[in-house]
Amino acid sequence: MTSPVRLALLGCGTVGAEVVRLLHEQSADLAARVGAPLEIAGIAVRRIGRDRGELPVDPALFTTDALGLIKRDDVDVVVEVVGGIEPARGWLVEALRAGKSVVTANKALLAEDGGTLHDAAAEGGGDLYYEASVAGAIPLLRPLRESLHGDRITRVTGIVNGTTNFILSAMHATGAGFAEALEEATELGYAEADPTADVEGFDAAAKAAILASLAFHTRVAAADVHREGITEVTAADVASAKAMGCTIKLLCIAARGADGQGRESVSVRVHPAMIPVTHPLASVGDAFNAVFVEADAAGQLMFYGRGAGGAPTASAVLGDVVAVARNRLAGVRAASESAYADLPVRPMGEAVTRYHISLDVADRPGVLESVAGVFARHDVSIATVRQGPAGGAAGAAGDAVLVIVTHAAPDAALAATVEELRGLDIVRSVASVLRVEGGL
Ligand code: NDP
Ligand code: HSE
Repeated sequence: MTSPVRLALLGCGTVGAEVVRLLHEQSADLAARVGAPLEIAGIAVRRIGRDRGELPVDPALFTTDALGLIKRDDVDVVVEVVGGIEPARGWLVEALRAGKSVVTANKALLAEDGGTLHDAAAEGGGDLYYEASVAGAIPLLRPLRESLHGDRITRVTGIVNGTTNFILSAMHATGAGFAEALEEATELGYAEADPTADVEGFDAAAKAAILASLAFHTRVAAADVHREGITEVTAADVASAKAMGCTIKLLCIAARGADGQGRESVSVRVHPAMIPVTHPLASVGDAFNAVFVEADAAGQLMFYGRGAGGAPTASAVLGDVVAVARNRLAGVRAASESAYADLPVRPMGEAVTRYHISLDVADRPGVLESVAGVFARHDVSIATVRQGPAGGAAGAAGDAVLVIVTHAAPDAALAATVEELRGLDIVRSVASVLRVEGGL
């Protein structure tokens, strides 16, 4: 048989340990698919002595010298499942410049500085694959970067963070508040001890940048993504969504569009939004992920599955390993980065969407007229208005709750509307502002 393709595995935690297990369990099949055995040359970790349970691997393969491992002549492919910006960036640039192929699950690094990795891959001539970096096991990046390359993608709407989807699904199912649902997610092992990256939307924003870059042939970084998390979503918002036939999801939305002069640009945002319960993304529950892609010729496509976890993520990593190993044996490389469109990223103020606004107001004649006047002054058209008695501790006698849903308007116009509403003496508080997506 052909001599083995040798892998340097960087990281042996939740994902890395499953990569080791699958490489062992599937070795014969993987060798048949690649055309050569896949062999682990070494495994770089932070702590050699850490208890890793019953891992089917020679303990002598472990090292703390990641760079030394990468530089070895007998290493063909570097598999990075450590995470973070440094030292991962330095390692991967070193490997790619040396002509090695890289498989990584590192969304943070790709979203922060993917361009540097792509440039290094172009320089060295190896492959850079990162299917596991967005939506875990779901085959999504390969369809975007290969299958849909004959089409024009117009919009990508996704639920790409399992932790927040679990929390919002629990809030919808039980009426629980955010804190209670987060506690449940932590107890069940969905949320990490420090859930900031998930609940504040950083994780989803990194994935949104990667998706937008591939969909629109344009380098988009995490810093280009407008980001809002779910910590401000209340049980009252969820109840109001339900009353409108909606549910609330943390969405990543990447869209391309043209201005009046036909100049194309992209907008990329992550924020909680109400979507109708009839929308395909509304039924994505628990910690599952799903991504809805719209393209000119293909129409609507939906990708669904497990977005996290050791084995699902290792499945995506192994798929990439097989692809790059095959390429090396064939002496070819995959198509390089496609960023030719180089579209500008539109500021959030120009994003056009609908809004659900909940106001605590004085309940007396003329209030509705004053409130409607503010919307009119900012050219934001009201679609529906619902009034009910003020509830909760803040609700005083003589107050009411006004729930207003608008037609589509630019985000900047809505922000100016809310700012002016806050200054009215008849408005006790702007209780919540949520975007509404997906039609109603
Ligand atoms: P873990 O924290 O479980 O594992 C990280 C591994 O990296 C550990 O083995 C650790 O060593 C090693 N490591 C950390 N720092 C260093 C260092 N300086 N030098 C050498 N080794 C180091 O992470 P995960 O497996 O959860 O995640 C890995 C990557 O996969 C991340 O980029 C993450 O974003 C991505 N990912 C993870 C998913 C998941 O569900 N977990 C889903 C999708 C993507 P030691 O074992 O000694 O501590
Ligand atoms: N924390 C992420 C999530 C893991 O909850 O989806 C995968 O990136």
